[in-house]
Formats: sequence, C-alpha cells, structure tokens
Amino acid sequence: MKHLIRSKDLSRAELEALFSRAEGYLPVVKEGRKTADAEGKVLATLFYEPSTRTRFSFETAMLRLGGSVISNFNMKEASSAKKGETLYDTGRVVSQIADIIAMRHPEAGSVGELARGSLVPVMNGGDGPADHPTQGLLDLFTIQQELGRLEDFTIAIVGDLKYGRVVHSECDYLSQFKGVRFVFVSPEALKMPAEITEMLIEKGFEVVETEDLNSVIGEVDVLSQTRVQQERFETQEEYEKYKGVYIITPELMGKARKEMILMHPLPRIDEIEVAVDDDPRAKYFDQIEYGVAVRMALIATLLNL
Ligand code: NCD
Repeated sequence: MKHLIRSKDLSRAELEALFSRAEGYLPVVKEGRKTADAEGKVLATLFYEPSTRTRFSFETAMLRLGGSVISNFNMKEASSAKKGETLYDTGRVVSQIADIIAMRHPEAGSVGELARGSLVPVMNGGDGPADHPTQGLLDLFTIQQELGRLEDFTIAIVGDLKYGRVVHSECDYLSQFKGVRFVFVSPEALKMPAEITEMLIEKGFEVVETEDLNSVIGEVDVLSQTRVQQERFETQEEYEKYKGVYIITPELMGKARKEMILMHPLPRIDEIEVAVDDDPRAKYFDQIEYGVAVRMALIATLLNL
C-alpha cells in the first residue's frame, strides 16, 4: 500500500490488517495517551473544502502516534493554488517537507492528481462526490466493533446516495465481505450510482432499492444515515426538494431491531433528531473515536512503521 486514494484499491487482507492494528490503538485513543511509533515524522493536512472531524481526526491520529502536524485548512484561498500552482506541483513540493499527506478537495480525482506528484504517501480525506476512503474504513471498523462481524448482515444505506462519497466507499469495502444484504433507501433522483449497484450484483450480493424507509427499517442490522449534500446540487431549489426527506425519530427507532446500530458520518442537519442521541443503538458519536484509531493504523501502515 503506497497511498490511500480509492477505497476499491484495498484488499480484504489489507482491510483486516488495518482493523486489527486499529483495535490495538483503540485503548491509546480512549485513554488519551500517545505512542512513539511515528516519532520524528510529519503529517501535512491540505484541506480545500470545509471539515471538522476528518482533519482533526487525521491530526490527532498523528499526534497520538508521537508525530507532528503541519496544516493548511484553507488551501483554496491561502496556498499557492491561488497563484495557479498545479496539484501535481503542490504534491511534489509538500512531499519534500512532510512524510505523509492527508488531503480533501471538492473535485473527484484531485487527490490522485496530487499523489502523482508526491514522493510520500497521500491519504484521501474526501474528493468531491467520489470517495471518502478513511470514513468508509471507520464505518466498517464501527460495524466490526459494535455488531461483532463484517459478514452476514443487512445494511440500509439511507439518504443522498448519489452525491454522498461516504456511502460509495462503504459499498466498495463491504463488497470484499460475504453475505451482506444491501438496502438502498433514497429518492429516485439521488439513487446509488449504477456502477456501484451493478458491481455489487455482479459479485453476487442481494441489493434492494426503495424510497420507503418505514417499510424496511425493521429488517436491518446496520442503518447508515447520510446528509443530503447541499454543496453538490446545481441550485438551492433542487436541494430544498430533498432536504429532510428521511428523518430518524424516536418513533421510527421504535420499529427498528433492538440490536440495530445507527451510524452517520456527520455533520447532521435534520436527518436524525437529537432525541435519538441517547438511544444505545446510536453510534455516530462513538464512530469519531474509532476514526482516530483507524487513521493511526493507516498512517503507521503507510509509513511502514
Ligand atoms: C462527510 C463528508 O465530508 O463527506 N463528513 C465526514 O467526513 N465525516 C459527510 C458529509 O459531509 O455529509
């Protein structure tokens, strides 16, 4: 593994190795400690798009590995991109300074372009609507930790399946495991891209597509809820049509299985009522801790530590 750009590049063996390493780091995260595994190493975070969790999570992961962090969270306005520097050159330049790079950008393919120039590992923190491989990793790690298995379960993936990059990564990773039943819940206009649905069907997975969350919530083990991706719509009116289309309420949770887990990459707008937060099945805040452990495992692996 040289970079992590596309979630489909990871094999099942690589996923399992990352999760077992992340499990080892979990006590370090939970107890607020640090290791010396990446002592002397520097992570650069280059963010061309807003972020709260992802950037802090990458940076905290490096700090808990005993390394250091340099960060520019306004790359679009406050870096040489403003002067016209190409992503390729930025990759080459930053890789002369840092030992590893995490990057987020609004355009699909942009992180791969920067990685082409980079001499050090690059991690994709989200490239437009395409992919969000580290969020996908932490979602699978959450399922493994909270459900106890990565096989033989039903997952409902709900909301904006067209523009939501996280759900694309989740499907790529889950396609490496057996016996997963996929229920895609979205309005017709925000359906899962056909290439993902077809890839799953070709690999022999059962895929159900519906617009009706109510009728399927009782049959799922994992519910992955997502935000309607306002920033990807052509117009505000178009976005308004779909905003609030699926809202998880305590009443709806009443129809779900007792052992179901409810995930969300966050931020939430209105897709999950705050009254659901105290439900023991709500795992979206726990996911954040899992994310730091997974990113520690990823950084350590990419740096060959
Ligand atoms: C997601 C993202 O940026 O794609 N957030 C995250 O990284 N936790 C989800 C979203 O913005 O809806």
